[in-house]
Amino acid sequence: MMKIGVLVSGGGTNLQAIIDAIHAGTIHNTSIEFVISNNKKAYALERAKKAGIEAKCISPKDFSNREAFNEAFLEAIDSYHVDLIVLAGCLLILPPALVKKYRNRIINIHPSLIPAFCGKGYYGLTVHEKALERGVKVTGATVHFVDEGTDTGPIILQKAVEVQQGDSPEVLQRRVMEQAEWKIMPQAIELIAQGKVQVVDGKVKILP
Ligand code: GRF
Repeated sequence: MMKIGVLVSGGGTNLQAIIDAIHAGTIHNTSIEFVISNNKKAYALERAKKAGIEAKCISPKDFSNREAFNEAFLEAIDSYHVDLIVLAGCLLILPPALVKKYRNRIINIHPSLIPAFCGKGYYGLTVHEKALERGVKVTGATVHFVDEGTDTGPIILQKAVEVQQGDSPEVLQRRVMEQAEWKIMPQAIELIAQGKVQVVDGKVKILP
């Protein structure tokens, strides 16, 4: 059984896609041990509780400094002994020690085809605003491992989504979620659960 923990900050539709895929049996041999949010108002926490998953908020705001938060956050995560950490709409800058300790065991979903529209400042709706400003005809989503950079880790899966004339950032965001994010995030977890994902020379190799 692969144990995963999910980090969230917002609505939690990607978390929901993972929960649904586990229930539907499209993700095998996987259990969600915890959902942690840095934002106590995140609806993702409600989704977790409804699914019977341990859910809590650990916010930097509740600590006197970042070091104290980082230490407590890492300790909390370590206590669950998970195999994989999934960032599902997590806007928190992770403690560097966490990234180091869980190398190639943290995955993130980004709402563009990396390396387009990624890096510092590219998150949420801004990604889609920039894509529309540039007039791209195709965008999409990427699941990748997390390293020390911003959206620079090895790419696991990508899926393209067509931009349509007259799209607003909100409409495009919704299409990217429906057609790409909610599909490739569960798929990536399933591939990892089946032991089919290897990182070789900084690149992901998917085994048959
Ligand atoms: C998604 O667009 C994801 O790509 C981005 O943040 C959004 C999270 O949405 N990183 P949700 O909280 O999963 O609904």
